[in-house]
Amino acid sequence: KEVKLWGGRFEESVTDAVEKFSESISFDKALYKQDIMGSRAHATMLSHQGLMSESDRDSILRGLDEIESRIEAGEFVWRTDREDVHMNIEAALTDLIGEPAKKLHTARSRNDQVVTDLRLWCRDAIDKILTRIKNLQVALVKLAMKNESLIVPGYTHLQRAQPVLLQHLLLSYVEQLERDSGRLMDCRSRLNFCPLGACALAGTGLPIDRFMTSDALGFTAPMRNSIDAVSDRDFVLEFLSANSITAVHLSRLGEEWVLWASEEFGFLTPSDSVSTGSSIMPQKKNPDPMELVRGKSARVIGDLVTLLVLCKGLPQAYNRDLQEDKEPLFDSVKTLIGMLEVSAEFAHSITYNWERIQKTLPAGHLDATTLADYLVKKGVPFRTSHDIVGRSVALCLSNNCQLLDLTLDELRNINPVFEKDVYDFLGVENSVEKFCSYGSTGSECVADQLGFWVAKLDIN
Ligand code: ARG
Repeated sequence: KEVKLWGGRFEESVTDAVEKFSESISFDKALYKQDIMGSRAHATMLSHQGLMSESDRDSILRGLDEIESRIEAGEFVWRTDREDVHMNIEAALTDLIGEPAKKLHTARSRNDQVVTDLRLWCRDAIDKILTRIKNLQVALVKLAMKNESLIVPGYTHLQRAQPVLLQHLLLSYVEQLERDSGRLMDCRSRLNFCPLGACALAGTGLPIDRFMTSDALGFTAPMRNSIDAVSDRDFVLEFLSANSITAVHLSRLGEEWVLWASEEFGFLTPSDSVSTGSSIMPQKKNPDPMELVRGKSARVIGDLVTLLVLCKGLPQAYNRDLQEDKEPLFDSVKTLIGMLEVSAEFAHSITYNWERIQKTLPAGHLDATTLADYLVKKGVPFRTSHDIVGRSVALCLSNNCQLLDLTLDELRNINPVFEKDVYDFLGVENSVEKFCSYGSTGSECVADQLGFWVAKLDIN
């Protein structure tokens, strides 16, 4: 058995069970790029500070290049007995270049190393998610552009409420995704501070230059407090919180699309390329990908909860528990990226069933609020107009008709304030256009919104 990098004070080697239980190489090898980046910056700084010769630095840099290309060629052997990515790379470097490698860990601990790697990894991961969010926004805007002027029922309590333009509904998701991006960007700028040089927890007496490594790695500045630097995982918590909120948004989108694809709604049809069948029922076509988007949001939320519970009992500075932060982090990112990509593909595949939707629009008295607003314009107090329209709806219910089927006499019978122009306010087409104040669903307001997004997302 190889002597551990930390083996000096030990008389016995760890048992196989402990070794297997404690290793993290099986998952933290995902951090190899960041780990090598960090080591390059660290070695360069050490030689600049006179803590390592230039020739040692150069052989370290060459060795790291070689290790990186071996990893990328799939030729690198990851060893469980070397525990984690940091020790695997350092030990392999020693195998490769010998003596100079032993200087690399000067003024560094795995405690500051791992959290530096993690911050770098999160930075990249956030950039990847931001791109996917934008792609989904573009897909939603394009879907909206393909369906200009389609009116759909708007729901509250899943009961028919008011008519809205489909574009308005789709753009509501685009807005939510924009805030999701904003949260990730906030998180990115807050996490972009460099822990390297905090060492185990107390910092170091060696004359390192933390500003130099921080700069080299593209961080804003070194972290101010070495204990905080190795203790903190709130950047992971913040990241996973932001991911969870995005996942919840996607889950709601999934729910709506699944519902709308049902026979009962029949409002949209996804293409076959995003649908799956049943092993027993030959007729079935299921919107599985969006059901899975809804389902996988549970994992993303679970990953956040794992991290919260992981951190809550820890005393300050590094604790080995923190090794458990990586799998939930990786899982959250991988899952969310998949959810975003599939949602965008699904959006591209959707056909809205105009005829079917239009046929259902007369149901549910979607124009009732517009009628109440009509009476307000005639000077009737809103509470009174609410009551008048309520009684008009009741008459429709007993006559089994729509508001626009009531005659002027019937309406006047309820209240004499009604005039002939009332019919300009009835029916979904008239009604939807009356919603014309800022942010409303009328076609002009929606065209403004659409214009905003087309420009912002650079859609041509
Ligand atoms: N594999 C460890 C982790 O992921 C690296 C840090 C270990 N530090 C230590 N002192 N054992 O957290």
